[in-house]
Amino acid sequence: MPTHRSTVIDEAVDTLRKGGLVAFPTETVYGLGADATNPHAIQKIFSAKGRPASHPLIVHLAAPDKYDQIQIDWTALVSPWVRDLSEDALKLINAFWPGPLTLVFKKDKSVLDELTGGQDTVAIRAPSHPLAQELLRKFKGGVVAPSANRFGKVSPTSAADVRSEFEGILNLMVLDGGDCEVGIESTIIDLSSGDRAVLLRPGLITPSEIFTKTGMKIYQPTDMNENKEAASLPRVSGSLHAHYAPNTPLRMYSPGRVLDALSEFPDIKSRVAVAVWDSDSSLSHEGHPSAHFEEVIIPSDCTLFASRLYRSLRDLDQQGWDLILFPEPPAGEKWDGVRDRLQRACLGSGPSSINHVSS
Ligand code: TXA
Ligand code: MG
Repeated sequence: MPTHRSTVIDEAVDTLRKGGLVAFPTETVYGLGADATNPHAIQKIFSAKGRPASHPLIVHLAAPDKYDQIQIDWTALVSPWVRDLSEDALKLINAFWPGPLTLVFKKDKSVLDELTGGQDTVAIRAPSHPLAQELLRKFKGGVVAPSANRFGKVSPTSAADVRSEFEGILNLMVLDGGDCEVGIESTIIDLSSGDRAVLLRPGLITPSEIFTKTGMKIYQPTDMNENKEAASLPRVSGSLHAHYAPNTPLRMYSPGRVLDALSEFPDIKSRVAVAVWDSDSSLSHEGHPSAHFEEVIIPSDCTLFASRLYRSLRDLDQQGWDLILFPEPPAGEKWDGVRDRLQRACLGSGPSSINHVSS
């Protein structure tokens, strides 16, 4: 197997060097990779995804061969991409890389505009998935990689998901690294103001975890209440309201209020999939017309829920339900990542989702 694996990776490296696209696993979701220094390759990503050119991409970097949190020197790896590497940035990098944390910096002038959507900032992360690391180390350069899904759709967490996204659109090389462990995209922190660190996208790594490990306070975009600062925040495509969306209508219900979630759908009489926490015995106490509902058990542990969220949305989307209902995640910061993805998935869901997304 190892020989086979290294041959496959060599082929992937070769494809990237020639300006082609390679899909690869990361610990969060699968990425659609291209050489970050090749404008034509980057262009291919935007057309394959159907993503507007103004939406910037994340540069993925390799960690040194044998990384050790104390000895590793990330400065040499990150410096070519950024204008200035602050103490705070190094604190975050040392605490969380390689791992599901993306940092936004003021970019070095050599970084392509095609990659940053014309902005003067660049987003960087070092993924921890061993296959991603092997690919990046052998490639010896930055690889831009958005999630390997069509624009606005559910992110892929397996190689098969990636293949089904691009079937008939693109003959794509897909490295198979199994199911993604984290299951939702990386946490994004903006450091580009040089002043405050701002959370742009919630994920597995939370502001409290960052505070505990580094002593750094992470601000919410809503804390930036002076209009000028808010207006200068970079664009994040995940910050569109509708995103990560299945074709089947998806809604959330609050505890004990399944029927309320149906008020929008007076015509739906059957084929409703209702996700229920594994900690709840059953929906029967909710008094729903059980003949029309089918329960799908979902994990009430937050980390497990995240790791299975996109898998469940994709699978349910294939099963021909008229409506999918998910329980509202509980309050609390550790649920922010999945709550954010579920809310956007609801808004973008349904057959006309593409219209919502592109508006
Ligand atoms: O977990 C992840 O981050 C995955 C895996 C594949 O690494 N990648 C991912 O990429 O989620 P994508 O393109 O689907 O989402 C990247 C997000 C977008 O919302 C984009 O707007 C934001 O990062 N982003 C990229 N560059 C940025 C920048 N310079 N300033 C602000 N946001 C940026
Ligand atoms: Mg994405």
